[in-house]
Parts: sequence; structure tokens; C-alpha cells
Amino acid sequence: MAALHAHPRPLRTLTPTLTPRRFGPPRRPRTVRCNASAEPPRRSYSVTLLPGDGIGPEVVSVAKDVLSLAGSHEGIEFRFSEMPIGGAALDLTGVPLPEETLAAAKESDAVLLGAIGGYKWDSNEKHLKPETGLLQLRAGLGVFANLRPATVLPQLIDASTLKKEVAEGVDLMVVRELTGGIYFGKPRGFGTNHEGEEIGFNTEVYSVSEIDRIARVAFEVARKRRGKVCSVDKANVLEASMLWRKRVTYVGLEFPDVQLSHMYVDNAAMQLIRNPKQFDTIVTNNIFGDILSDEASMLTGSIGMLPSASISESGPGLFEPIHGSAPDIAGQDKANPLATVLSAAMLLRYGFGEENAAKRIETAVIETLNRGFRTGDIHSYGTTLVGCKRMGEEVLRSVDSEKLVSAAH
Ligand SMILES: NC(=O)c1ccc[n+]([C@@H]2O[C@H](COP(=O)([O-])OP(=O)(O)OC[C@H]3O[C@@H](n4cnc5c(N)ncnc54)[C@H](O)[C@@H]3O)[C@@H](O)[C@H]2O)c1
Repeated sequence: MAALHAHPRPLRTLTPTLTPRRFGPPRRPRTVRCNASAEPPRRSYSVTLLPGDGIGPEVVSVAKDVLSLAGSHEGIEFRFSEMPIGGAALDLTGVPLPEETLAAAKESDAVLLGAIGGYKWDSNEKHLKPETGLLQLRAGLGVFANLRPATVLPQLIDASTLKKEVAEGVDLMVVRELTGGIYFGKPRGFGTNHEGEEIGFNTEVYSVSEIDRIARVAFEVARKRRGKVCSVDKANVLEASMLWRKRVTYVGLEFPDVQLSHMYVDNAAMQLIRNPKQFDTIVTNNIFGDILSDEASMLTGSIGMLPSASISESGPGLFEPIHGSAPDIAGQDKANPLATVLSAAMLLRYGFGEENAAKRIETAVIETLNRGFRTGDIHSYGTTLVGCKRMGEEVLRSVDSEKLVSAAH
């Protein structure tokens, strides 16, 4: 691969803008100070940081610095509080989500999470696993919509396992329903069938209000992107999917400017590999979204680059990289912090409606890649291999760059 820093690409934004007001207002600044000078008023937001386990603290530390610097350029200040979750919380308090952590998260304007989990707690009982703390946090915050962009950056095209001509230009968003469906439906459990054989069972269930609210999020997202929603279901077999299709179609009438199509999930899984460029915004239920968003993320070839946002109706959103705690590289300064940095950009956009600051961060990430800096997971011949801390420093340098002032506005 050619040296990227020798051939800088034009700056571009990773994700288009979205005004989050329709599906949960951006958190209002808690304090607005007007000073006597002509400076614009500063906005102040509280952010709960949940570094978690493994590489979590390393990547959150970088994202915090980037958030602070980008904010300072845009008249925003942050009040950070750091709380334990996952394995770190288990070691400290005996539970994976202490009450104090959930209370702090709920009280704040947004939550930025690193990652949870690790070998040490793998054999714990279910209620004492780090992952249980994360599920409790999502439920506690009521975050029902999970937004996962999958963008193939020209700088990282060689990292994709797909052919260049298939991967090039992919820029899609998966909107996954997060708090309903088969993962939560009742009845569920183990039992015995008529023949006396042991069975396990779960229930896929969706109500009209659950479908309508996630559909609205997807249409709003698409409206600010390329105006296309593809709703993915299994309406040829499942009743819950039949209702899903009916309601998404109905809600779609409120958005005549957005083009709606429907696709069965098995076909969608194929189409994501065959021709991913056809997709703009995909909306789907919890279990299909779980699978398809992982598939979509791998189109980009790098788990260390992918952010996510989980949005509630009115409370704080939860912003986190899609990767886990990567215990194999934890504490070695090898982690790619960019997924968490880009999650911080999503926090600004979807959590606070601070578009300029969000763009500033996204543009800084592109600029840093254009200058050729790469962590191990995205490194290729001709680029400069750096660790987590150095990558953070280079992003900070890009945030400060004069070039970004015009690019971000
Ligand atoms: N949301 C979360 O916090 C979350 C998500 C997935 C897994 N987990 C937990 O994380 C632990 C490890 O799980 P896993 O190994 O299946 O998934 P993982 O995402 O932690 O790691 C998978 C592979 O990707 C690499 N990787 C991940 N993030 C990276 C980054 N930012 N930079 C460079 N390389 C990176 C890792 O080194 C590893 O080789 C488990 O305990 C799991 O339960 C947590």
C-alpha cells in the first residue's frame, strides 16, 4: 500500500449530521455563562466516564482529552466524573454495576464507556459477570436505539476483507432496536416438551409503540444522510416481523422525503457482502441488528475504528466503541483509541446537538490518518506505527490544526 501521508486525501466527514430532537432532545447545557466580553456564551455539560476493563481506561483517557480540546475550541466545557463498571466494579464493590455508577450516569448529560470484561471474571456466575453490568446500564438508561455507522475510509480501504471495488465508498448506518424483542421477551426459559424432552425457549415480541419509536429514529437518521431506509425483518415467517413491517410502513408515511424499502434478513445478510453500497440506513430488531451490525462493521475491516451511540427517549445517551476490552493487548499501549474518539464525536452530535465540535473531532481523525499515523490493528506498509497514547497526541494536534477551523464549520 502506498504511503498515505505522501498522498493526503481530502478531508471528509465520517457521519452526516442528525438533529436528535425528534427522538430525544439533546441534553441542554446545565450552565450557560454570559460574560461581559463579546465572546459567545460557553456551554457546560456533565459527562460520566466509565473506563471499565482491559483497554477501556487507555482509550477513554484519549477520548476525554480529545473531547476537552475540541470542546474548548467551540465554547464548550465538560464536567467529567469517572465511575467503575464491569470487572473493575466487581473488584471494588462486588457487583458489576454499583448503584452509585448508575445514579451518576442517569444524572449526567451523557455517558462515555470504554469496554468491560476479561479472563479474570469469565467463570463468574451470570449475575456477577462484567457483561451483566453493561446490560443493566443499558436497561437503566432506557437506551432503545443503537446507532452504528459503518464507513469504509479511503485511507483504510486495504483493511477490508472485501474486494476494493465492493468496499470502496461504503457508508451505512445500522439502527438497531436495543431494549425489546427476543432478548427480553417472555415467556423464556427451560422446560420439557410433550415427549418429555428438555427444551429451551424464548419469545420474539414487539409492541406498536416500540416499533414506531425506533422507526422514527431511523427515518430521522436517513433524512440527514442519503434519504433511504431499508427495514430488515422476517415477515414471511414471523408474526412479530409482520407487525414490524406494517408499522414501519405506516410511520414511513410521516417521512415522504425518505425512500423506504423492506428486505428479509437472510437476503440482507447476503446483500451486505454482495453490494453494501446499496444501503444508507438499515433499521431492524434487536437480534437481527445484533448480527447485521457486526457483519456491517467488518466490511470496514477494523474493529478499532467503529463507534456507536445508544439513544434514549429523554435521558442521557450511552456512547461506546463497538470493540471489547481486548485483554490480549491491554496495558501495552497497543489499543486503537479512534473508535472511542469517534464515539465522543457521536456523543457531541447525538447527545448534545453540538455539530461543529463533532465535526471537528471527525475531521481531526481523518487528518491524523492522512498524516499516516496507524495503530497496529490498521497498520500497513508505508504508514507510521504508533501506540495508543501517541495516536491520541496526534489527534489532539489535528484538533488544534488551523485547517480544521474552516473544515468543521
Ligand atoms: N461493549 C463491551 O464492553 C464489549 C463488547 C465485546 C466484548 N466484550 C468483552 O471483551 C472481552 C474480550 O472479548 P473479545 O476478545 O471477544 O473481543 P474484543 O473486541 O475485546 O477483541 C477482539 C480482537 O480485536 C482486538 N481489538 C479490539 N479492540 C481493539 C482496539 N481498540 N485496538 C486494537 N485492537 C483491538 C483485540 O486485541 C482482539 O484481538 C470479553 O470479556 C468480552 O465479553 C465487551
